[in-house]
Amino acid sequence: MPGELSPIDKAKFVAAKCAADMVEDGMRVGLGTGSTAAWLVRHLGDRVRDEGFRIKGVPTSARTAHLAKQVGIDVITLDDAGTLNITIDGADEFDSDLNLIKGGGGALLREKIVAAASEEVVIIADAAKEVGTLGAFPLPVEVIPFGWTTTQMLIEELLVSADVMGRRITLRMNAGKPFVTDQGNHILDLHLTRIGNARQLAMALNQMPGVVENGLFLDLCDKVIIGYSDGRVETRDINEGTVSQHRIDVEETENLFSDI
Ligand code: 5RP
Repeated sequence: MPGELSPIDKAKFVAAKCAADMVEDGMRVGLGTGSTAAWLVRHLGDRVRDEGFRIKGVPTSARTAHLAKQVGIDVITLDDAGTLNITIDGADEFDSDLNLIKGGGGALLREKIVAAASEEVVIIADAAKEVGTLGAFPLPVEVIPFGWTTTQMLIEELLVSADVMGRRITLRMNAGKPFVTDQGNHILDLHLTRIGNARQLAMALNQMPGVVENGLFLDLCDKVIIGYSDGRVETRDINEGTVSQHRIDVEETENLFSDI
């Protein structure tokens, strides 16, 4: 493991390594977006290089597509793939039912489409992402640019009667301008603090004109792999109701990313 990594990056690194080892030769794999998913893509690239194994990757963002190509993964579109054997992605929050908030990296729309097309969805995360109740992380909502202020007003009205603790909404910015997603949309971040009824909120948001998708990923995740900075990983399987723990051999991975 690269010695210069921060404890949080070490945790992401080992979670990603564990998930990369679950991928089998010939699989069609959904590749998530974000710093944890980037470790996954590098680990998979390493397996392609060293083990000669072949996978087809469907990236959830232009950023991930770029990295995947760089590390030698065959990149195909979701339309080419049809369905996926597995998707591995990060998350901003997960709860005990493995429901998630995603979209901190702005890729929630493609991430949700790719997850829905997958036989298995595995989330990789450091332990800080686990919460009792979703909502401390601002909920990203992708909206079309046309009339986004009106969409924001409609969401504000919706939140008045929603089971949430906070109601502030901010437009996500990037270098002084509204952030633009890979689909050409904007993101409203909903600072809700606590979401009492995630299912109801997700449905109500997606019925609103102007809303493309929201960052609540409900009943989509099959497993979460939680990484710790000392090399421990814990895998929770919601379908089997199992929890398993093991340790990634840190020495074994020591020189993997000396070129990064
Ligand atoms: C991107 C996402 C990411 O998975 C999420 O933001 C977690 O990112 P990171 O692994 O960098 O903590 O949903 O849209």
